[in-house]
Amino acid sequence: MYISGAINLDFYEVVRTRRSVRSYKPDPIPEEALMRILDSARIAPSGSNRQPWKFIIVKDEALKRRLAAACQNQKFIAEAPVVIVACGYNIHWNRGGYMGDLSMLVDVSIAFTHLILAARAEGLGTCWIGAFDNEEVKKILGVPENVNVVAITPLGYPKDEGFSEPGSRKALSEIVSIDRF
Ligand SMILES: Cc1cc2nc3c(=O)[nH]c(=O)nc-3n(C[C@H](O)[C@H](O)[C@H](O)COP(=O)(O)O)c2cc1C
Repeated sequence: MYISGAINLDFYEVVRTRRSVRSYKPDPIPEEALMRILDSARIAPSGSNRQPWKFIIVKDEALKRRLAAACQNQKFIAEAPVVIVACGYNIHWNRGGYMGDLSMLVDVSIAFTHLILAARAEGLGTCWIGAFDNEEVKKILGVPENVNVVAITPLGYPKDEGFSEPGSRKALSEIVSIDRF
């Protein structure tokens, strides 16, 4: 299901100028843009193609405020017109020999990365939120027992600059080695 009409940014520009956005306009998100973003997550790779994910789209104002409170009270989350909560099914897949129940974190994180990059390509801001109370978010959204919350992001048009070149990052020479650790 590819829906045409997205703005056309070079892939490397998307990757380079995606920033964590912490201030949002209330402007609504076009439904087609939201669908393209979600579809980018849908087609992400996953171990054995298990696709152990579920994305909850939250638009209700009261729910957004409760979610922001469950994310260590990061109030900017509720400013955005949409909040996306990425969940993963506990798949008990001992991938890599040691990951066990946490295997799904890899898959859901890949899909969520697709999602935040697609959002940037649409001119929409995101901020990967890892500081949340899993049990509290599960309670607010009725997430079942065998599912956990992996990541949350507000989604909306940035109020300020929004997109810029990356801030401080390690040099390639520090993070890449050849043939040996
Ligand atoms: C796993 C993860 C968890 C994060 N949790 C939060 C968070 O709870 N709140 C927040 O404001 N930013 C959070 N961030 C955003 C990081 O602070 C940000 O990605 C990093 O500082 C680099 O900045 P940039 O995204 O603008 O390039 C998180 C990012 C990741 C990948």
